[in-house]
Amino acid sequence: MILVTGGAGFIGSNFVLDWLAAFDDPIINLDALTYAGNLENLAALDGDPRHVFIHGSIGDFERVAALLATHQPRAIVHFAAESHVDRSIHGPEDFIQTNIVGTFRLLEAARAYWNGLDEARKAAFRFLHVSTDEVYGSLLPGDAAFTEAHRYEPNSPYSASKAASDHLARAYHHTYGLPVLTTNCSNNYGPWQFPEKLIPLVIHNALAGKPLPIYGDGQQIRDWLYVADHCRAIRRVIEAGKPGETYNIGGWNEKTNLDVVKTLCAMLDELQPRTDGQAYTTQITFVTDRPGHDRRYAIDASKLERQLGWKPAETFETGIEKTVRWYLDHQAWVNNVTSGAYREWVGKHYGAPA
Ligand code: NAD
Ligand code: DAU
Repeated sequence: MILVTGGAGFIGSNFVLDWLAAFDDPIINLDALTYAGNLENLAALDGDPRHVFIHGSIGDFERVAALLATHQPRAIVHFAAESHVDRSIHGPEDFIQTNIVGTFRLLEAARAYWNGLDEARKAAFRFLHVSTDEVYGSLLPGDAAFTEAHRYEPNSPYSASKAASDHLARAYHHTYGLPVLTTNCSNNYGPWQFPEKLIPLVIHNALAGKPLPIYGDGQQIRDWLYVADHCRAIRRVIEAGKPGETYNIGGWNEKTNLDVVKTLCAMLDELQPRTDGQAYTTQITFVTDRPGHDRRYAIDASKLERQLGWKPAETFETGIEKTVRWYLDHQAWVNNVTSGAYREWVGKHYGAPA
């Protein structure tokens, strides 16, 4: 049994589905179902007794403590967060509450539970804190990729809140001995990503005939990783990572935003051409830049490869093709999340949220 937080979000739901496809260990999935949480992602698990969904917040210490006492997990995999940089710029409060205070409360509940375990179960227990490369700040064009030793220089309220949570996770290992592992991953893409993030937003807008907004000059660089590769890396770190260590996860796929958008346009031109025969690139629109926009991220994932034998299975080319095909095949999902209708689905399927 493992406890997953945020398992109805983009990466969390991919992780839950991948885990249950690979193992029989049941999952307790604790998710607050914010706008980003969507149980429709997990509809394939309906009736599967290995998946127990709990609608609740990581910030609710009593609730989490009771869940841990009842289900006795051998690990906690902590995805739950506010994750969108632009939203953090418009309103940082939720990011402080969820990413910092929520993670603190979750760590407190984990510490209390872990202290009560017998020695063998204490030694085997793991708390895996899922974090981001954004905590390291921004790179210049010729700089080496981020290693685990790179100093923390978060630039947005989102990355600052994730950095704070990384420090708390580290302190709970150092001070209390809680077996914490931290992973810092680059930009993920793939199925079930909420269409506020660049790749699904561009696919959605392209098909809807809307502008494809590029912030600033579009020359910012991100290091893209297919989500299934991230999930596999997390599984590997839970099983073989050393408590107290951090592991960078990345795809060795640095691309400018403009190149990513042009690749998506070319793929859509081929798979679902516009009815007027025009190229989707004609919808590209340069808009005002994101304030404080980080110029470049790049992850050096060699520690994870060297020590735990993980490397990505997908290239950007194979991963992006799977992703575009997935969105074309799941237009109903996109329509539900963009219209808010998925909330009705939750009410209909699970009853009114508690
Ligand atoms: P997401 O926004 O798609 O999903 C977040 C999930 O957390 C949602 O299901 C939401 O309902 C849930 N949640 C929010 N507040 C909660 C609370 N208080 N209690 C319980 N659940 C709550 O995010 P994502 O893109 O899947 O990211 C998951 C994690 O991975 C985050 O910690 C993020 O910082 C990290 N990460 C994301 C990326 C990326 O490219 N998306 C890259 C590296 C790291
Ligand atoms: O690097 C890991 C991070 O990647 C995660 O920690 C975050 O949770 C995740 O949201 C992501 O952050 P980014 O800000 O890099 O992702 P986003 O998809 O919002 O933007 C990717 C790039 O595209 C970024 O440089 C901003 C740009 N962009 C984004 C949007 C939504 C645009 O040019 N236009 C847009 O409309």
